Amino acid sequence: MSVPQVLLLGGHGKIALYLTPLLLARSWNVTSVIRNPDHEAEILKLGQGKPGKVSVLVSSLDDIKSVADAQAILDKVSPEYVVWAAGAGGKGGVQRTYAVDQDAAKHFITSSFATPQVRKFLLISHLGSRKTRPSWFSSADWDRTLKLWDSILPDYCKAKWEADQLQTALAAVTKRRDPKRRFQSINLRPGTLTDEPATGKVSLGQIPIGDRNVSRENVAIVADRLLASEDAEGWVDLLNGDEPIDDAVERVAKGKIDAIGDEDVDGMIQKFGL
Ligand SMILES: NC(=O)c1ccc[n+]([C@@H]2O[C@H](COP(=O)([O-])OP(=O)(O)OC[C@H]3O[C@@H](n4cnc5c(N)ncnc54)[C@H](OP(=O)(O)O)[C@@H]3O)[C@@H](O)[C@H]2O)c1
Repeated sequence: MSVPQVLLLGGHGKIALYLTPLLLARSWNVTSVIRNPDHEAEILKLGQGKPGKVSVLVSSLDDIKSVADAQAILDKVSPEYVVWAAGAGGKGGVQRTYAVDQDAAKHFITSSFATPQVRKFLLISHLGSRKTRPSWFSSADWDRTLKLWDSILPDYCKAKWEADQLQTALAAVTKRRDPKRRFQSINLRPGTLTDEPATGKVSLGQIPIGDRNVSRENVAIVADRLLASEDAEGWVDLLNGDEPIDDAVERVAKGKIDAIGDEDVDGMIQKFGL
């Protein structure tokens, strides 16, 4: 199989900066999409001494206003794997949250599923992005989730949920209608992020929240391992924990453990008229 080309959206994000060298170390090639040309040298430096090649595409996700805009980037980069690591981060007001976290993400999801060459799409979402209490959540976990939606970050939650639902719905219809297509749709869902160094140990899959968070470096390592797995797909919840990352990813990927719980996938398919 040829060397995978990765399209990394939000390439200057903190998780993306940890992830890029891991992908390059696999001899994969990475095109990192950033909006600020001043960040180009920092990204290119990540490729020093690595077998894979890194390149930079300067393009603002605010300008991705249609599927055609996203498709133009896919056509230019020609990736096998697409990673969404971008996020407005609450900067620039509610409008930018919807423009980036919802609209641009959805346009890349649609165009990636529509592009036969794309075989993997990993979207970084968040642990609170759900509407139905999963059986493994405590009542405190669920109260915390509801509070995130109702009062802490309502617009962020709505924007991410739209993108998550579209990815989930497209993954389900693709499997039903085109079972021969090998497409791994991965929704990676970390809890609250920290800048602590990687612990190398996580809690992955169907997991309660408690009072735990997760290091961004751990998230990047998990993302790298999920992308390298030929089995990983579905919703993957993530916090710091006690299981070595490689073991956790293998257990979840091979065991087809999906954190989607009882969410209404058919409702998502109907919502988008798929
Ligand atoms: N914060 C949390 O606790 C938390 C928890 C769970 C999941 N998440 C998710 O984790 C992901 C990334 O986290 P992170 O810590 O790596 O975030 P980050 O450091 O804020 O990175 C986000 C990246 O998106 C880029 N971006 C924003 N608007 C853009 C635009 N219009 N065009 C191009 N790029 C744009 C930013 O570019 P600049 O570098 O130019 O600003 C930044 O590099 C996000 O999807 C977020 O929703 C966050």
